[in-house]
Amino acid sequence: MKNGQTLSDEVSKITDRFAELTGHQPDGVWEAPGRVNLIGEHTDYNGGLALPFAIERHTTIALRSLEQAELRCFSTDYPGWSLNPVSAIRPGAIDGWPAYVAGVFWALVDKGWEPHGLELLISSSVPSGSGLSSSAALTVSTAMSINDRFELGLGQDELVDIAHRAESEFVGAPVGRLDQTAIVGARASNALLIDFESHSISHVPLKIGPLVVVDTKVKHANVEGDYAQRRLECEQASNALGYASLRSATLEEVETRLSGTLQRRARHVVTENARVMSTVDALRSGTSVGDAIFASHRSLRDDFEVSCFELDAVVSVAERCGAIGARMVGGGFGGSAVVVGVEVELLQREIDSAFSKVAGVIPEAFEVKPSAGARRIG
Ligand code: GLA
Repeated sequence: MKNGQTLSDEVSKITDRFAELTGHQPDGVWEAPGRVNLIGEHTDYNGGLALPFAIERHTTIALRSLEQAELRCFSTDYPGWSLNPVSAIRPGAIDGWPAYVAGVFWALVDKGWEPHGLELLISSSVPSGSGLSSSAALTVSTAMSINDRFELGLGQDELVDIAHRAESEFVGAPVGRLDQTAIVGARASNALLIDFESHSISHVPLKIGPLVVVDTKVKHANVEGDYAQRRLECEQASNALGYASLRSATLEEVETRLSGTLQRRARHVVTENARVMSTVDALRSGTSVGDAIFASHRSLRDDFEVSCFELDAVVSVAERCGAIGARMVGGGFGGSAVVVGVEVELLQREIDSAFSKVAGVIPEAFEVKPSAGARRIG
């Protein structure tokens, strides 16, 4: 959904477009939000902690079952695609955005679903490559729509699994489970505390604000090599310490038993988990989150080395504007930052002025509200 649009506007719009493209009404309409991670970055694949929330930007899907064994995908923004027969769906056979849809199809069939012909239309207000989880919004909305339409009875964890397998095994982006878990489990007005070791979640009321996202417009995909490289380094660090994951490591062990790159990577993960807990404690007790969000950014910049010039510049501007906290979100190397506690107009003015002095695209700031997770809307 875009700002100012109601749910029924969104449903009518996609239903009308679906009818124009296919000549039929869809069987239903579903949406899955993008997410912002307040804190807890690059911790998910290390058995750590994260505190994301869903935003009011969505991927919407209208879907209809077909008699013939064909998968027909349409998008309001990109060229369509179709595959007949669906038995030809396998990793490596499909590129671009339809690979995420086909990946869900493949993961469901692998789980025992009797494949069925489908036509679907996707429309999204989650900017792609912006660190706001456009990929997981697409896989989760697809998985949820098929689960509901064919009454597969999959629960939240299984939907997360299917969406995650689509992205990691079918598309080949070696991501963790942060995005899918956030998008499936989010609740309006709350952040979601996720513990990736115990696989438990709890809701934390999110009363600080304003919450502003700044899209630097620097694109980066997790399918590129740097993300996999960071995962490998974290694995090497936990192996060197003799642990199954960095969740078990202490700061003292990291500082005395590791050195160089592995020490820096592990130090980020260990200190980031502590920052998540201190943020959760502050939110629950209504006290100040202190320096945790800024410290997370510094750690991602200096120890994990996944920031970039534009993200660092946005965080500096936010700091000058008196933000409660600001940091990059998502995989990094581009994408978005979250800024807490600065009015969006003031922040945009200061960004315009700072970025007009350097060449390049001006980042775009927009306010977000913690929103509901994926659901059927029509
Ligand atoms: C991307 C991945 C997530 C997570 C973040 C970093 O968004 O999809 O699994 O690893 O990067 O926290």
